[in-house]
Amino acid sequence: MAPVASTSTSIMRQYVATKKGGPFQVVTGTYPTPGPDEICVRNRAVGLNALDLKNLYHGQTVKAWPEIFGIDAAGVVEVVGDKVTQFKAGDAVMCSAGLGGRRGGFQEVTTVPEHFAALKPAAWSFAQASSAPICYLAACAAITKGLGISLPHLAPLDTPKEDHVDYYGEKNPQVSNINNGDAEPGDTSAATKPPVAVRSVLVLGGSSGVGTSALQLLRIALGPDAVILCTNSPAHNKRLVGLGATACVDRNLGAKKLVAAVKAATPSGKGVDAVLDAVAGVGGDDSSGLWEVLRADGPKLYSNVFTGEEINVPDGVRGKPVFAHMMLSVIKGGKAAMGKLGELVEEGKYQLPLDIKVVGRSLEDIGKGLDRLQAGVSGTKLVVSL
Ligand SMILES: NC(=O)c1ccc[n+]([C@@H]2O[C@H](COP(=O)([O-])OP(=O)(O)OC[C@H]3O[C@@H](n4cnc5c(N)ncnc54)[C@H](OP(=O)(O)O)[C@@H]3O)[C@@H](O)[C@H]2O)c1
Repeated sequence: MAPVASTSTSIMRQYVATKKGGPFQVVTGTYPTPGPDEICVRNRAVGLNALDLKNLYHGQTVKAWPEIFGIDAAGVVEVVGDKVTQFKAGDAVMCSAGLGGRRGGFQEVTTVPEHFAALKPAAWSFAQASSAPICYLAACAAITKGLGISLPHLAPLDTPKEDHVDYYGEKNPQVSNINNGDAEPGDTSAATKPPVAVRSVLVLGGSSGVGTSALQLLRIALGPDAVILCTNSPAHNKRLVGLGATACVDRNLGAKKLVAAVKAATPSGKGVDAVLDAVAGVGGDDSSGLWEVLRADGPKLYSNVFTGEEINVPDGVRGKPVFAHMMLSVIKGGKAAMGKLGELVEEGKYQLPLDIKVVGRSLEDIGKGLDRLQAGVSGTKLVVSL
């Protein structure tokens, strides 16, 4: 293990959810010892995400209470494990924190495998950097794993089924149940079909963190001629077109008018090849007709970033849920995904997806920040500086 940086101490503070529904409590924990491939990051900012609320109120990914939430963080590397090659003490990084325990973001020091982190882009503050990782990874998963579209900045994903071991090092049944574009059990035809050329995509939830990430990545992947539409509140139209959308459709139109508007924005007038659903946008009350945005004679692809809401995918539509952390499991191309985020930003190919709002300046402010998130956000990521 590389020397402990002079800033580290033997204890650190942690913001712990004591039980389902709260309350939170600040406790003192022992300074972590990194595993061989891990880094310890002293957090300078943490992003607040819907999953933190779902964990607080429903325990969505919680295995035991008390638990430390927080899935996005940015800070300074203090200690690195013996086998770490990409980082050294003193590096400013942003990272996808893990789901709880030593990997949780809501503590002074978070410990993650090095491939969960990327160097912080020079132009981004710690607060900005803490808003980016999970939405970027979810968008990567939705595009590559959900729609089968290659991202040029990532090597082709190598996804043999037996390698779907998640970041806990456990077999993850959800991860093996995904749309790789490969054959369903008993289906021998799909495996031999050539990849589908997707030329038009509708992003449901274009102004969300995942949506703004997906628009940028889809534009990179599909080029200037592809039709990339999104649904959102009209206040965000200009920004979303700037990020890569061909056109925006008012998400409040209601299913019938929304389908008509999407079809009208496609060259054939027939609809889109694929839907990337960042917000369970086909799951709402007035959504049953939304499947008609898919071109009847097209590949009918649907990629659903898992939100906790079950989506009933109709017959004839190919789609399954995806998870951000699929990119961090032991998938060859995916393992490089975080590092490549830093490069994309430095190359000017990827912008900060959302404006950020700093809603606190200490661990103790996280609870109030989550209350604000619960009240609703629109085109904004809430973060707490530390
Ligand atoms: N499974 C995973 O690995 C994973 C990873 C990341 C996120 N997620 C989930 O993905 C969802 C999005 O996360 P996020 O952080 O990107 O969310 P976010 O930025 O907080 O989402 C807020 C945005 O959602 C938009 N929105 C809400 N309902 C909509 C609808 N029916 N149609 C269109 N837009 C809608 C709003 O748009 P307007 O303001 O324009 O109206 C708002 O800008 C959450 O449920 C989160 O838990 C899952």
